[in-house]
Amino acid sequence: MSASPPLLSLPAIVTRLRAAGCVFAEDEAELLLSAADTPERLAAMVERRVVGLPLEHVLGWAEFCGLRIAVDPGVFVPRRRTEFLIREAVALARPGAVVVDLCCGSGAMGVAVASALSATGRVELHAADVEPAAVRCARRNVSPLGGRVHQGDLYRALPGALRGRVGILLANAPYVPTDEIGLLPPEAREYEPLVALDGGADGLDVQRRVAAGAADWLAPGGHLLMETSERQAPHTAEAFARGGLTPRVVGDDELYATVVIGVRE
Ligand SMILES: C[S@@+](CC[C@H](N)C(=O)[O-])C[C@H]1O[C@@H](n2cnc3c(N)ncnc32)[C@H](O)[C@@H]1O
Repeated sequence: MSASPPLLSLPAIVTRLRAAGCVFAEDEAELLLSAADTPERLAAMVERRVVGLPLEHVLGWAEFCGLRIAVDPGVFVPRRRTEFLIREAVALARPGAVVVDLCCGSGAMGVAVASALSATGRVELHAADVEPAAVRCARRNVSPLGGRVHQGDLYRALPGALRGRVGILLANAPYVPTDEIGLLPPEAREYEPLVALDGGADGLDVQRRVAAGAADWLAPGGHLLMETSERQAPHTAEAFARGGLTPRVVGDDELYATVVIGVRE
């Protein structure tokens, strides 16, 4: 019978993580220590982090808008900057709004908006993604709120009954230009699927398709909120206008976040 490995101490984990280049080694070490229930699991988790897996994939969850969102391997890790879009969405939502999270990944955005709105009454939440792993993961996050997750290409995934009824349409579609994928940190490049990152030659391929289809699904006065980059924002906004929405660009310097908001008049 093999003996259990000794429990790694906090300082020992910090040293290993620091040597592997983890900037927030102390915080990460504490999270790993509190997540592992046996010395074997702790050693395995530290090892996975040291070889470069995103912390959230090692832990199995990400903190987003103060919520713990399950994030499975191969699923996009929700980014802190996206919390800005959530604040904007919550401010615009009307009571009882139908909320759709298109390109949902883990479903973090829809869950965050629906959770914030739940205090004001019932929210009908739908999320959709083309990737089976994302759909499975999103179901774990969305189902407890009574929401539904659909699989398929953009709007094709959605039940037809939502046409013309959506109050808040959230979209963090992939927007990295293909030839800039190689510049992303290895955590993203190696552990998040290309379909979650690659937005085509100028990064706007999926954004344009989302913008072109939105007016059909939005209720009058409904909003599409789409994350983008500062550089791409004028082009994202142009796509909104072509799709029949009235766009405006908003940003947050602290979170380095840019969002285009379009309303169906
Ligand atoms: C940048 S990630 C964002 C995920 C999530 N909204 C978030 O912010 O954490 C983009 C997501 O879009 C999905 N996606 C890419 N192309 C799609 C398409 N044609 N239809 C539906 N989903 C798509 C990817 O699978 C990925 O989960």
